[in-house]
Amino acid sequence: MMPFNGAGPVRQNSAKRRLDGQPLGAPRSSAACGHCCAPSVAVATTPEIRLWASGPDLLRGTKAEACLLLMVIKVLSNEAKILAKGYPMARDILFEPIRFRNLEVRNRLFRSSISGRIDNYDGSGTRARINFERRFARGGVGAIISSHVPVHISGRILPNYATIDRDDRIDFWHDVVEAVHAENCKYILQLSMSGRQQDLPGVENIDPQAPPGSFYRRPLSSTDSRDSFHGIAGRAASRTEIKQLVQWFVDGAERARRAGVDGIELHSANGYLFTQFLSSAINDRTDEYGGSLKGRGSP
Ligand SMILES: Cc1cc2nc3c(=O)[nH]c(=O)nc-3n(C[C@H](O)[C@H](O)[C@H](O)COP(=O)(O)O)c2cc1C
Repeated sequence: MMPFNGAGPVRQNSAKRRLDGQPLGAPRSSAACGHCCAPSVAVATTPEIRLWASGPDLLRGTKAEACLLLMVIKVLSNEAKILAKGYPMARDILFEPIRFRNLEVRNRLFRSSISGRIDNYDGSGTRARINFERRFARGGVGAIISSHVPVHISGRILPNYATIDRDDRIDFWHDVVEAVHAENCKYILQLSMSGRQQDLPGVENIDPQAPPGSFYRRPLSSTDSRDSFHGIAGRAASRTEIKQLVQWFVDGAERARRAGVDGIELHSANGYLFTQFLSSAINDRTDEYGGSLKGRGSP
């Protein structure tokens, strides 16, 4: 095999030699392509490289060279036929619309929820998030599920996540929705609370009345025990606090509706607040919000 570098024989051949490697004026061998002719040594050595590198020499090429050219044309024209019939993937069910009770999405490609620290520390949103979401919409997904969007500032996994904990957040989410809708894509907001599972406690969780040895306000959870992930201790929510948590989700959903989103998702996986109630491995309550699945799932 010849090395394919600029200083090697390919360049020299293109300038001074025929495709069969002979000088331009040399007599022709009975070169063959192996497709319609018998194989020949001259063409068997990297014929493609020589074909592409030869330029005008091709007009003076052998029968084998002409045959190679025909093969290339045939492959390209088959590709063109496939493209003319429509890209085969376009008929895949993935690209068919899907209808839910109150929502129709133009295809079945959903961008899953992806968080990133791209907003302001105080929970207000940034242009970066709008651009991020619009990029996926432009790329052709039918719907986007937002990132973890806390319904209360104490429920962040990390700072710099946009929240939906106050009415003055609605305008920002409305801008995100508008940008995504302009690309014919739906937007679903994921309402979330971290519970005790936080990557950083966050300054908003500093507790001025904390007893010695515990500096942070303990995030509301189903349990007083520590998260096995980062070791942050939760605080078992009282019945009143559970009602408060529910209300935060209700208010978040109402704000999302006012922002024009196409749906909401309750973040009930990955160890966050809902998991902390649902999981019998975490929920150690003895009241009506613990015990059986019905109890653990009742809030
Ligand atoms: C950087 C990153 C951030 C994520 N953020 C969220 C999130 O906010 N909410 C959520 O439900 N899942 C989140 N996920 C999980 C993804 O949505 C997805 O379920 C997971 O990556 C598995 O899908 P995959 O196998 O295609 O990666 C995140 C994943 C990654 C990698």
